[in-house]
Amino acid sequence: MRDIIVLGIQDGHTSGAALVRNEQVLAAINEERINNIKNYSGPPLEAIQKVFQIAKINPLEVDIIAITGLIRTHAPRVERPFHVKLYEGMSPYIHSHMFCSLLVKTLHKFRKMSQLTQLFQKMDMAGREIFFIEHHLAHAACAYYQRPWEDKTLVLTLDGAGDCLSSTVNIGEGFQIKRIASSTHYDSPSNNVYSEITGYLGLKRWEHEYKVMGLAPYGKAEYCIETMRNLVRINPNKQLEFQNTSGAYFSQIQPILRKKLKEQRFDNIAAACQVYFEELVAQWVKNCIRETGIRKLACAGGAFLNVKANKVIREMEEVDDVFFYPAPDDGGMPVGAALEAYYRFCDREGVVPRRSKLSDIYYGAEYDDDYIKYALEKNGWLAKASHIQDIEGDVAELVSRGKIIARFAGRDEWGPRALGNRSILADPRDLRVIRKINFAIKFRDFWMPFAPSILEERAADYLLEYKPSPYMIEAFDTTDKAQEIIAGLHPMDQTARPQTVNEWNPGYRRLIAGFQHITGVGGVLNTSFNLHGYPIVGTPEIALNTLNNSDLDGLAIGNWLILK
Ligand SMILES: [Fe+2]
Repeated sequence: MRDIIVLGIQDGHTSGAALVRNEQVLAAINEERINNIKNYSGPPLEAIQKVFQIAKINPLEVDIIAITGLIRTHAPRVERPFHVKLYEGMSPYIHSHMFCSLLVKTLHKFRKMSQLTQLFQKMDMAGREIFFIEHHLAHAACAYYQRPWEDKTLVLTLDGAGDCLSSTVNIGEGFQIKRIASSTHYDSPSNNVYSEITGYLGLKRWEHEYKVMGLAPYGKAEYCIETMRNLVRINPNKQLEFQNTSGAYFSQIQPILRKKLKEQRFDNIAAACQVYFEELVAQWVKNCIRETGIRKLACAGGAFLNVKANKVIREMEEVDDVFFYPAPDDGGMPVGAALEAYYRFCDREGVVPRRSKLSDIYYGAEYDDDYIKYALEKNGWLAKASHIQDIEGDVAELVSRGKIIARFAGRDEWGPRALGNRSILADPRDLRVIRKINFAIKFRDFWMPFAPSILEERAADYLLEYKPSPYMIEAFDTTDKAQEIIAGLHPMDQTARPQTVNEWNPGYRRLIAGFQHITGVGGVLNTSFNLHGYPIVGTPEIALNTLNNSDLDGLAIGNWLILK
């Protein structure tokens, strides 16, 4: 059977590219990891070239190109241009499904393609057939086609908005995803509740929602939850859809918030936002299960970055099993678009398609010893670096002595979480590391929790109702024993957002096992390797620059160890 090679591209918010051979992701990387601009929005011209280098595939071998979204999606700007303000102002009056679909079809005709077309020409891919994969279908495809079971599946997507929709309900069966309901962008609970509260609290919409989630456990929801309830609800007449009842859209909601939340505490606002979001999503999931009778869920879309809401869904008695795609935001869509295009192409060409369950997601670039040595020399670090065969053993020992060490090893992770290869590691027993990482290394917000990486076989010691959680996409309650990894728990509610580490990453496993050998503790604190406001480090040069600009105690890069 011949191989089919698909290039997947997301050219809007958090852009990136993926190269897929049949159902297998060969390489995927977001543009931010190359240009060092967090959540970079725009054609991923570098990432497209990079995925071919990583996968060692010639662009001439590409069969089809899959582009996410009929229209491009960009993060909302703080200062809205006039036409955006006008559109937001008109939205309460015109936002029907029919209007949205017409708008998307019209805007699709004017979709900007010039930079991508030029690049395709330069790379000898001009003339390849292009599949435009609708935004929520691309999200749905990420989760459904890589689900860990074979059964018929309820596929849910929920995000701020994309292609004028904010949620979809689908039934996945075989190699088809059939949509049965959707909510328009106007009715978006993620935009109109979560992102607007994020903006109201002085944080960045479409980026800092996780900070509201981190703040929420410190507050009490009851003082502000009524205000949230009056913004968006489940549509009483169409129970699989959300309904905006505020009478305003997106940034136009700010005057309502200023009036209703006047003199309310920031932490209580965050708590109400999170608690209401969990309630709303749980009710929606319940309705979807009741309507379809399907109790196995596959979920994607930026709203499923909310690990606390994911916990609520996982714990619902109606849910038999749930799979959250670990790159659920727009940054993960190149994979979904490529997979959907692959199955549509197979369908049309009479090719029997294949499917794989998701395993590890180390899809990014790897740098060999020679390159790392060259980077060390170029940046003046070679004299301070030692080449060590068992570097994991040394790092385990250093971390057990309280040192905070960054690890740059192997291929980088797909999605927003560092899963050991681009991570800063610390001793989870010691709360003092939190202060040091927050104020001297990453300059993080003081209330944000850290997360642990735990050996899979030790996870049940620390997590209640444990199930393998290799991607840091779900939260868990923790056991009393988890106090020994206290710095990796949320300080207020003691929940954890763990990575359970299995054989997918042997080096990282060795490191944690080494730490366990010394301390008896089966996990380390793992936070992404970057400075505040920057993406996770993508290249040895950026790693060395980050070492320079922070109080990290050391960097383990490949087999090279640098101690400050
Ligand atoms: Fe999206």
